Amino acid sequence: MRRRPRPSPGARRDGARAREGVTDVRAPVRLWAQDAERTLADLPQPLPPASLLPGEGEWEVEIGFGKGRYLLRRAAAERDRRFLGIEVAQEYYDILVGRARRQGLRNLAAARGEAQTLLAAVLPHGFARAVHVYFPDPWPKARHERRRLFAPESVDLVLSLLAPGGTLWFATDFVAYGEVVRELLDAHPRTRVTVFPGGWPAVGAQPAGPRTNYEAKYVREGRPILRLAVEWAGGDGLAALHPRGVAGVLAAYRVTTGEAA
Ligand SMILES: C[S@@+](CC[C@H](N)C(=O)[O-])C[C@H]1O[C@@H](n2cnc3c(N)ncnc32)[C@H](O)[C@@H]1O
Repeated sequence: MRRRPRPSPGARRDGARAREGVTDVRAPVRLWAQDAERTLADLPQPLPPASLLPGEGEWEVEIGFGKGRYLLRRAAAERDRRFLGIEVAQEYYDILVGRARRQGLRNLAAARGEAQTLLAAVLPHGFARAVHVYFPDPWPKARHERRRLFAPESVDLVLSLLAPGGTLWFATDFVAYGEVVRELLDAHPRTRVTVFPGGWPAVGAQPAGPRTNYEAKYVREGRPILRLAVEWAGGDGLAALHPRGVAGVLAAYRVTTGEAA
């Protein structure tokens, strides 16, 4: 029987957690890097990534890093690259920051905040060589679909992080959502989608096999997982926008203005 997906701790906006402010999406954004924590008020926007981590290393971003297994391993193994993690749950952000501190990682920055807000209003475009999204909340109810990280209204935000030639890495165990994501990303004329049915291969310095905590657990349980790599060819202005993303924006405009579609 198909498991009924539960929202991750970070996605819960009701009950005790929200009252404690643990996962409040409106709580102030915090940014940690190189042993200093700052808020948006301390930094220019759009945020020059080098104001968090100076240097020449290529950038990789993980959205919804959970307990941070993937980011911490990558940052420890590849000190010449720069990594930024975005996570809405305060408790997970604290775990990652604590571990990064103890390991003395100077090439890893973390942002506690809601990803779509940070992508839309804080981070610049086109700076990342890779973006990683593993096991994002599937939001299975129709009325919640607009909260998905990959929907016609939000797909451009995620793609906008990538530099031309960059790659988006994605995995989910909620295969129905994964197929929607795959089809959505495949529909962009400037993407090339590869599916990995047998698990992740070794990529550069990264070993083959599960990347995150959720993936390791689901592999042990034998759950089906859809894994994708999406190469982004890049594009300026309108060429960079997803055809369905534009349609989504226009549809929303028509709804709010009452203009006939
Ligand atoms: C199912 S967990 C997966 C964690 C990790 N990627 C893994 O594979 O082990 C989803 C993660 O995304 C985070 N998350 C959910 N919605 C988010 C949002 N809008 N912005 C940032 N992080 C979010 C949750 O707090 C949670 O840590």
